[in-house]
Amino acid sequence: MDKSFVFGVATSSYQIEGGIDKDGAGVSNWTVFCNTRGTIANEDNGNVACNHYELWEQDLELMASLGIQSYRFSISWARIFPDATEKINLGGIHFYQRVLQKLQLLGIEPMITLYHWDLPQWLEEKGGWSNPDIVQHFTKYATTVYQYLNGLCSKWITLNEPWVFLHKGYITGEHAPGKATIDLAGKAYVNILRAHTAAVQAMRSISDAGEVGVACNVSFIAPSSSRSQDINAAARFDSYINKLFLDPWIKGKLPEVAFELFGPQLPETWLHSAVEILTRHDFIGLNYYSKTTIAHDSKEFLGCKLTHSGLPVTSMDWEIYPQGLTWLLQWAYFSYKIPIYITENGAAFDDAPNHEGNIQDTARIDYLKSHLDAVEIASASGVDVRGYFAWSLLDNFEWEAGYGKRFGIIYVDFDTLQRTVKDSGYFYKDAIKRWKYSSENKEYTNVFSLPG
Ligand code: GCO
Repeated sequence: MDKSFVFGVATSSYQIEGGIDKDGAGVSNWTVFCNTRGTIANEDNGNVACNHYELWEQDLELMASLGIQSYRFSISWARIFPDATEKINLGGIHFYQRVLQKLQLLGIEPMITLYHWDLPQWLEEKGGWSNPDIVQHFTKYATTVYQYLNGLCSKWITLNEPWVFLHKGYITGEHAPGKATIDLAGKAYVNILRAHTAAVQAMRSISDAGEVGVACNVSFIAPSSSRSQDINAAARFDSYINKLFLDPWIKGKLPEVAFELFGPQLPETWLHSAVEILTRHDFIGLNYYSKTTIAHDSKEFLGCKLTHSGLPVTSMDWEIYPQGLTWLLQWAYFSYKIPIYITENGAAFDDAPNHEGNIQDTARIDYLKSHLDAVEIASASGVDVRGYFAWSLLDNFEWEAGYGKRFGIIYVDFDTLQRTVKDSGYFYKDAIKRWKYSSENKEYTNVFSLPG
């Protein structure tokens, strides 16, 4: 990790903004999905969330007070194109301009995600990602935002975790639009692949000034035993979660599991090569949280049953395994040879303020510390990793889990919306300072292993 390595935090529009109808915003599919009874824990929704739409200035100042160097956030598509006329809503553009201008003043580098799962409802009603027209709609949206904002932002992510919105939106139905139809999933897969490529190319034709990439979720996959059935199941799941999108976009080749699952929906020519969707990436973003242990079970999707290996877990029941981050960074860099940002990493725990009002989240500090170490180990082995974004700045709306799962380094009281920096926030501040100090002295030591 050299001097230019950035320490950031990440958020997304639907999870923090609230203000869903402010300044001409249209309805998003997540608003509709949350209003469908039984889809979200506690029947929570993102109508108010952290009310970042109104409290954004205070949030950015808090971020600056922690020494955060970069901020990854997403744009809400429904604020930009509220309805099917696709007339631009400047109210939405202006909000993000204000955010970017403030970041500039504070000296925090922005990284914009164009799509973090909140699709305008008018597009959902046309079939969302399963309708091939989405390719052209997404390209129009991406280029519009890019044209307005690229003077204020030089790092761009098209899609966040395509695997998650495909798998949970179209296969398990846990996320919007709540479908569980393999035929639609196959169609959506093709359109997602094409939409990213078309948008990247159109953005580049406007200006090459910005760096463009994509953020994919990855998980360290291990078999539950040394039985060959479990090993094969784990290998299948590894391809499914880790290669389903990266291989086609970066290598122009779909993994076998894509044909197993979506064969009838895929263009025949893609069997040999999918150069049509191959595109140049300035960087790839990896979102890493945990290890996934797989056992063979023919009754389960893909013949894969998710189990545990006995490691400690977070409150999401996700296994904590920092070594997996080192391994995945090495795998991704040596397979794809593209610079990497860790665009998300973090943990949910059941935080609560103590009687003095402090949040002593030592488990999160241990998590962050060990994962920062893991990044450093990968970097020392030759991986070109350029930054790390903690998920998340604030406790927020954790999709189907509602507000019950807290990922923030800042605590949010969802009754008063008051923010309190957790101990992990102060830890992160200290880690950033120490790293700066150490890199200026050209030391290459394990700066994150802070005492205590
Ligand atoms: C995700 C999303 C985040 C989640 C986080 C924790 O990428 O899944 O980017 O929105 O909140 O990952 O689950």
